[in-house]
Formats: sequence, C-alpha cells, structure tokens
Amino acid sequence: MIVMFGATGDLAKRKLLPGLFRLAKAGLLPARYRIVGSARSALTDDEFRRHAKDAVAEFGQMEPSGEAWREFADALSFGAAVPTNPQPLLDAVAAAEKAIGGHPRRLFHLAVPPQGFAPTIGILGDTGLASNARVIIEKPFGTDLPSARALNETIHAIFDESQVFRIDHFLGKESVGNILALRFANGLFEPIWNRDHISHVQIDVPETIGIEGRAGFFEKTGTFRDMIVTHLLQVLGFVAMEPPTSLAAKQLRDETTKVFEAMSPLDATHVVRGQYSGYRDEPGVDPGSQTETFIAARVEVDSWRWSGVPFYLRSGKSLGQRRQVITLGLKQPALRMFALGPDTTNATPSNALVIDFDDPGWIAARFLAKEPGATMRLGDATMTFRYADSFCARHALAGYERLILDAMLGDQSLFTRADGIERLWEVSAPLLQAPPPVEPYAPGSWGPDSIRQLISPHHWYLPDSP
Ligand code: BG6
Repeated sequence: MIVMFGATGDLAKRKLLPGLFRLAKAGLLPARYRIVGSARSALTDDEFRRHAKDAVAEFGQMEPSGEAWREFADALSFGAAVPTNPQPLLDAVAAAEKAIGGHPRRLFHLAVPPQGFAPTIGILGDTGLASNARVIIEKPFGTDLPSARALNETIHAIFDESQVFRIDHFLGKESVGNILALRFANGLFEPIWNRDHISHVQIDVPETIGIEGRAGFFEKTGTFRDMIVTHLLQVLGFVAMEPPTSLAAKQLRDETTKVFEAMSPLDATHVVRGQYSGYRDEPGVDPGSQTETFIAARVEVDSWRWSGVPFYLRSGKSLGQRRQVITLGLKQPALRMFALGPDTTNATPSNALVIDFDDPGWIAARFLAKEPGATMRLGDATMTFRYADSFCARHALAGYERLILDAMLGDQSLFTRADGIERLWEVSAPLLQAPPPVEPYAPGSWGPDSIRQLISPHHWYLPDSP
C-alpha cells in the first residue's frame, strides 16, 4: 500500500501519479495494491481520482482510459492529515489495507515541501502507521549540515535507516544507471577512467525553464540546493566511484560515499552564482533577492584516481538549451604529429566521452579521424550509441518510476544514505557561509561571462551545436 503525502501538489501531478499509472499498466505493481493520497486539505475519493486522471492526461505517457485506468482509479482513495487530526488518513489506510487483505507493507512517499518532512514523520510515528513501512523522502534533504543532521535524527527516531529512501530522480535515469555498465561491464573504458587519461570532467545540466511559478520554494532553495547537492553531486558520485565489489546497495553506496568523503570543501572562489535578468520581477520573488538561479562550480575529488582532475558542474534556469550531459575530456596524446582540419576547433571536444543522460539518453565517443584525401589531415568524428534506437526503448522507466519500484522492492542502491548526504552538506559549508554575490545573466544565454575564467584553460562544451 502506497501513501502519497502532497498528493495534490506539483510533483504528484507531474511525476508521481503518471509514474504510478505507468507502473500499474506495465504490471509492475503488486497484484493487490492501493494508493492513498493525502494532503492537508480534504478531498473525496472521487475528487482525488479526477485529479489523478487530469494529471495523467496532462503529464503521463499513457492515456487514462480503458480497463487499465478503471482498475487504477479503483485503487485510489484519499485521506487528509494534519498533525492535530490524522484521523481521515488513518481511516483511509485502514480501508485500503482491508481491501488488500493480510498485513500489506506500507510505503510512504513524502512529496511535501522540506518544512513538511518532520511533521509528517511525526504523524507516522504518533499514529503507529510507521510499522511495517518504508519511507521515501523527497529533496532537498536539509538546507545545510545542521538541518540535514536534525532531519536524519527525526527520521531515525521512527525509522531504521534500512527503511529510508532519500530520493534523487536523476539516479533512476537509464543513462545514469548505464554509467555502471559502461564502466564496469566493459574492458574498454575503465582502464582510462582516471587522472592518467582524463584531464577534466563536466557535468552540465542547463534548463530552459524558469522557476515555473515555484517562487515560494525556489527563493528558499536556489539552484545550489535544488540541483547541485541534490542531483549533480549525486551523479558525480557515480562517475567518480571506485569499482564496487558488487551492485548491492551497501557496496554501491559505500563507494559513492567514499567519493563524497574525498571531495574537497567547496571553495567559494571556484563558484559562480548567477541570477537571470527578470527573476526579481517574478511573482513572489523578493525584489532584492540574492537567490541564485544558476551555479557553475569547480569541484575536486582528492583521491588517487582523481587528484588534479577538476570536475566542473553547471546548472541553471532560463538557459539556452535543456541538456543533461557528462563529458569526460581526455588528455592529449604525448606527441602531436597531425595537422588539424579547418573544422576542428578548440571549443568542441575532439577527444572525449560524452554521456547525455536526459531520457532517452545517448553515449558518444568523440575522436579525431583522418579526413579522406591525399593529405594527412584530421577532422572530428563521433561514434554514438543511442538508447532511442537500441534495445526496446518502451521498456525504459522514467527516473521516478524506477525508483518507486525499487523502494517497493526494498532496494536502496540508488538512494542516498544518511552519511552521504551529511558529507555533501559538510563540503558545501564554506560556500553556504560566504556565497559570492549573484551575477546577472540574460535569459537564453549560458550563464554569466565569468564562467569562462572559472573553467579556463578548458572550455564549456555546451552549446555543442550552433
Ligand atoms: C527537480 C528540480 O528536482 O529536477 C527542478 O526541483 C528541476 O528545479 C528538475 O527542473 C529537473 O528534472 P527533470 O526531470 O526535468 O530532469
């Protein structure tokens, strides 16, 4: 049985309800399941079903119609809950469990704003709902080290760590999972995956959207907390980890946590904070706001594998393109014997491995090849693997779908552990204590100009096409 807190919110509408319907339709939910929506305000079961239908119609990949929809809608019910009155939720859970029969396991998904985590955990503890349960906690998990520690303590007072699933939907993406396969299932890549062959790494997640009316959330959060700690550093953990001894949750998370431990504290002089022009005019935004809508940062992982290899991270709203790209720039060969053709520029990575992890995702090896003709001249060449053209693309699950399924199965591999997230806040402390001032950038651009100095002598690889 799934209980979705924040069931009338944005995340539930865009990702969770469409994702659950997709899992149901694919036959990946248990034979007998129920989904109880919950929020502070009351809805009837039918109102919640209508809300879910609209959400699936607008944001889902599949039409909410036919027998599949009727079965899914029948499994939905609603029970409001506030700390002073959780009774409607208790009634809805009791009815749902009776309908399933036996003692079904409970999965609570806390799709609520960060300030709602502790009160919701309180409800689960006080009412006894927390027994025989797992809990998915949304992000951002805390806003700094003390708040993350406090939240972990609150959670651990009720749940054992083995029941806790801190979600980052980027880690559920097929292409991010494929980093493990690429690195550890092949003899080709892992031998060069280190400081001897890689000069620098970029993890670049520009977005074209603005804050989409989320001023209340965004003003308090900003891009560093919303994207860097939550998503980009997690992806970095996968790119930089040592080979785990198995893919089991403990071994995998031991390795990502080791990466976070090896990370140097963030140096504010290696960070550019930007704010798109016009952000302060958005409804709900403070006219003097210092909240960043853009971050570019240089991160160092001080390990035998990565010492001296900078990791450049960039993410922001209202930028020129939506992309989710990891680029591993390879070192030049020791001796350059070849003339470069007119089309090879320094700005495109002629020697790099590129992983585009936006769904459906692709991986490309960029290299130099001889241009046909009488002279020995080189041009840029690419070998690309595209998920969209390979395998059976319709089997791909979106990040949330994959992760909700994993949480139901009790597999914590792709979820952040308490010590991992605390370490990320620890390395973030110098930046959070003394953030550089926000620099303006034009909507549709690639961020403030100073990001070029930040990455020099390397180059930002995006935009990679005119
Ligand atoms: C969310 C952030 O976690 O991820 C958003 O809160 C961001 O600000 C989004 O836009 C990006 O995710 P996706 O699914 O578009 O890759």
